[in-house]
Amino acid sequence: MDERTIVCMPGDGIGKTVFPEAIRVLEAVGFKANYVYADIGWEFWCKEGNALPQRTLDLLEKYRIGLFGAITSKPKTEAEKELIPELKGKGYVYYSPIVGMRQHFNLDLCIRPCQTFNGNPLNFIKKSDAGPIEPNIDVVIFRQNTECLYAGVEWTNPPAIVRSALETHSKMKAFKNILSEDLAISCRIFSRPACQRIIREAFKYASKYSYKSVTLCEKPNVVRETSGMMREEAKKIAKEFTEIQLWETNIDAQMMWLNKNPEDYGVIVSSNLFGDIVSDAFAGLVGGLGFANSANIGETCAVFEPTHGSAPKYETLTPSIVNPIAMILSACLMLEYLGELERAKRIKDAIAKVVVDSKVLTYDMLRLTGGPDVIRQGAASTEQMTDAIIAHL
Ligand code: NAI
Ligand code: MG
Repeated sequence: MDERTIVCMPGDGIGKTVFPEAIRVLEAVGFKANYVYADIGWEFWCKEGNALPQRTLDLLEKYRIGLFGAITSKPKTEAEKELIPELKGKGYVYYSPIVGMRQHFNLDLCIRPCQTFNGNPLNFIKKSDAGPIEPNIDVVIFRQNTECLYAGVEWTNPPAIVRSALETHSKMKAFKNILSEDLAISCRIFSRPACQRIIREAFKYASKYSYKSVTLCEKPNVVRETSGMMREEAKKIAKEFTEIQLWETNIDAQMMWLNKNPEDYGVIVSSNLFGDIVSDAFAGLVGGLGFANSANIGETCAVFEPTHGSAPKYETLTPSIVNPIAMILSACLMLEYLGELERAKRIKDAIAKVVVDSKVLTYDMLRLTGGPDVIRQGAASTEQMTDAIIAHL
C-alpha cells in the first residue's frame, strides 16, 4: 500500500501533550505514514490574525487526512487584546479553527463513539435488584456537523429587512413590541441533503457493524420544521435498511433515559446542537473527556480529534498528567477510516487491557483533582499511560 500522509495539528495546550502520544502508538502498531506538521491555534491568531492559516488548509486539501489535538479559543474582546500590536484594530475577528475546518471542507459527518471499557472506574453504574451493575454501553453518535445553530446565521439587533421578513410569520406577533436592539436571533437551518447524508451514514454504519437500532434524537413535536425534516428523511431512509429499527427520542427525554437504560441504544443520529449535547452526555457515562473521541468526515477530507479542549492549566506540568486515551482513540478512528481495521482493533484491545488491569490510571480515572500532586497520589503520567498501552500491543 502507498504510504499515506497525515496532516498533524497538535494545536494548543494539552493538544501538544497528547498528540505525540498518539503518534507513538501509531508507530508501535506498525502503521506506516508520513507525518507533516501544520500550524493551527492561538499562536497563529496572535501573530497572523488567523488561527487556521491558508497553508494549513492547503496541506489538508492536498493530503485529505488530518489528526488534530485541541485549540484554545477565547471570547472576542480577549482575543483582540492578544493580537500583536501591528494587527490590533485592523478588523481581525477570531474564528475557531476547528469550526473553520468543518465548514471549509464541509466535514458534515461527526462520529462520536461512546463505548464502555470494562473496569474503568469512571463507568456509569446503576442500581439493580442484584446490587450495583455497570451496563455495557456501546453507542455511536452521528452528529450533523455543519448546519443547525452552528451555521452562524445570527444577529443581535437584526437589520430591518431581516426583521420585516420574519414578521411575515404569524408567530412573530409575540415580539412586536420588542425593540430590534433587544432582539437576538440565531437561525436553526437544516438542508434536506445534509439531513439525508447524516441519516444514511448512520444507517450504513449500523448495518456494517450489526447494531439493531438507529435512534433519531430530535424534537419534532416542538421544532416542527427542522427536526420535522430530519424525521421525515429518517423514516424514508429506514425503509432501505429493513434489518435495523428506527427509534425516535426527544432530546430532553433522551437526557433522562440515558441515565436509565443507556445500554439499550446503538447508533444515534442527531442534528448539530442536539448531537453535541447527546454525545457529551453519553461520553460522561463511559469515562468523560479523557476518553471522548471523534471523527469529522466530509466527502473529500476527514479530521480526527479528541473532544476535549486545550486544558491550558495542565499544559506546563512535568510530567504531564492528562489522559492520552481520547487522542489515541481518535487515531483509531482515523485508522478505521483508512481501512486499517486490524491495527485499530489492536490498539483498542490494548487500551481495554490497560483499563481492566487497573494498574496504570491517569488522575481523571482516579477521580483526583488535577494538579502537580496527582503523581504522588498514585496517578500515572500521560507517558506512562501510553507506555502501558504500547506494552499491550
Ligand atoms: P477542556 O476540555 O480543555 O478542559 C476541561 C477539563 O476537562 C480540564 O480542566 C480537565 O480537568 C479535563 N480534561 C480535559 N481533557 C482531559 C484529558 N485528556 N485528560 C484528563 N482530563 C482532561 O475544556 P475547557 O477548560 O472548557 O476549555 C479550555 C480551552 O479549550 C478553551 O480555550 C476552549 O475554548 C478550548 N476548547 C477547545 C476544543 C477543541 O479544540 N476541540 C473543545 C473544547 C474546548
Ligand atoms: Mg462539545
